[in-house]
Amino acid sequence: MIKDAGHMAIVALHILLLTSCVYALDLNVDNQESIKDAGSTATYNMMTWYKENGTDNPGFISRSWWEGAALFLACLNYWHATNDTTYNEDVSVGLQHQGGSGGDYIPSWAIGVGNDDQMFWGLAAITAAEYNLPNRPSGDTWLTLAEGVFNNQISPKGGGWDTSICGGGLRWQKEVWQGGYTLKNAVSNGGFFMLAARLAWYTQKEEYAKWAEKVWDWSTTVNLVDNKTWAVADSAPGGPDGCSLPDNIRWTYNYGTYLSGAAYMYAYTNDSKWLNITNNLMESLFTTFFLPKYGGVITDPCEASGQCYKDANWPLFKGLTVSWLADIALIIPSLKEKILPKLQVSAEGAAKSCTGNGQNLCGNRWYSGYDGQNSMENAISGSQMMSAIMLKFFDSSSKPVSTATGGNGTSNPNAGTRQSSGPAQLPTVTTVDRAGVGILTVLFVAGMVGAVIFLYNDP
Ligand SMILES: *[C@@H]1O[C@H](CO)[C@@H](O)[C@H](O)[C@H]1NC(C)=O
Ligand SMILES: *[C@@H]1O[C@H](CO)[C@@H](O)[C@H](O)[C@H]1NC(C)=O
Ligand SMILES: *[C@@H]1O[C@H](CO)[C@@H](O)[C@H](O)[C@H]1NC(C)=O
Ligand SMILES: *[C@@H]1O[C@H](CO)[C@@H](O)[C@H](O)[C@H]1NC(C)=O
Ligand SMILES: *[C@@H]1O[C@H](CO)[C@@H](O)[C@H](O)[C@H]1NC(C)=O
Ligand SMILES: *[C@@H]1O[C@H](CO)[C@@H](O)[C@H](O)[C@H]1NC(C)=O
Repeated sequence: MIKDAGHMAIVALHILLLTSCVYALDLNVDNQESIKDAGSTATYNMMTWYKENGTDNPGFISRSWWEGAALFLACLNYWHATNDTTYNEDVSVGLQHQGGSGGDYIPSWAIGVGNDDQMFWGLAAITAAEYNLPNRPSGDTWLTLAEGVFNNQISPKGGGWDTSICGGGLRWQKEVWQGGYTLKNAVSNGGFFMLAARLAWYTQKEEYAKWAEKVWDWSTTVNLVDNKTWAVADSAPGGPDGCSLPDNIRWTYNYGTYLSGAAYMYAYTNDSKWLNITNNLMESLFTTFFLPKYGGVITDPCEASGQCYKDANWPLFKGLTVSWLADIALIIPSLKEKILPKLQVSAEGAAKSCTGNGQNLCGNRWYSGYDGQNSMENAISGSQMMSAIMLKFFDSSSKPVSTATGGNGTSNPNAGTRQSSGPAQLPTVTTVDRAGVGILTVLFVAGMVGAVIFLYNDP
């Protein structure tokens, strides 16, 4: 019952607010300014979660250390897509600082760094190099930091490449006390494959390409990647007798790592073998995760049941994947016409779902409106989705650089080979850090689906 003008004004205001809630993130995927605006909003929302700039540990996101790398990757994608440098200083400071004293992303304050966690920081560093982010005036260069991760991961002593079970491969975790130590999983190995391939492409150094070949061959031998069906498993649990059959768990980013690595190998070698692998993995990614029943919008399997929030990591996977798809189209331009429409459909879905709280917050599911799952991780993926569709307007100046095309080749090739890195050393931690360790360990152990398999298989 409306009683007076004041009340009517309030009712009118409510109607206005309600109306503004159903407004989507305004996006016309064929308009550069529109994409820029949508990207700016999504990235602004994402950065409201980032409080660590200006602290004595910039880039350290305590509840899940590797997510700092995902956040910085999204910032780099945003800058690359729009030329907006607003967040570059935050990225630059944090990305270098988290490299730690060994330049290999095993800083003393991050306890129980897994091979996948470290790898994502390595990918952030090589992305900074490829996008030509200026190196900082002192300290490690982006290339040094990426090489530091590579050097550590080829080294058994660093908790890296390991031939004691399954004939090779990286374990998920470096530390024996970590839940995933016995697992050899796709993202660690696919990510290492991608890092090696990108280092090969960036530096034109054959050593990196040899390692990429080796990781690929091993991954197909244990069927983490099935080179007949082009399915990518999540992990192959390792026992004393080798790796058992890979699982049937599917995640976008597992496909994305191998796909992107293959694309860089093609860009580096011009060998049609790698182009075929790229095409096959890309088709497999599209048919597995861009399903007609969701209007062709990219989804990870946890979305259908609304369960992605149960693991902070999961909502990040598709954002990373779409960003890699955009980069692949830049280094292999002939793939652009296949990739762009897939990205555009997903971005249109995302824009319609990024309507949260009247502030265009992005939720988790991009095919059914805002689902209320406001989180830093969903904000990161939302930002990466908007940056990826700038692909339509990318020109030759957008192509990632290598040292052959103006990329900075200054590095310390010995990064990551220090004695002190690796599983033997447990850093001293403060009480405050120990609370963080508990949380980190819970995330690591309960985190990835692979851990569940480990728990079942552990005798
Ligand atoms: C960013 O700058 C490059 C080089 O000047 C230009 O080609 C491109 O169109 C710009 N992108 C945007 C979104 O303004
Ligand atoms: C982040 O910190 C750096 C100094 O470490 C500063 O230059 C920059 O302005 C800060 N960024 C923001 C958004 O406050
Ligand atoms: C490359 O990075 C190094 C280290 O920061 C710097 O000294 C050098 O000037 C850079 N080179 C170019 C061409 O920018
Ligand atoms: C598929 O992978 C297996 C195992 O690494 C390898 O022996 C075979 O040659 C591969 N097939 C093709 C067509 O590359
Ligand atoms: C691959 O092809 C590109 C472009 O044609 C060329 O610049 C490059 O040298 C080739 N690389 C190799 C390893 O053959
Ligand atoms: C790549 O695929 C094409 C078409 O399917 C085939 O003709 C060609 O032999 C393949 N190349 C390699 C190196 O496998």
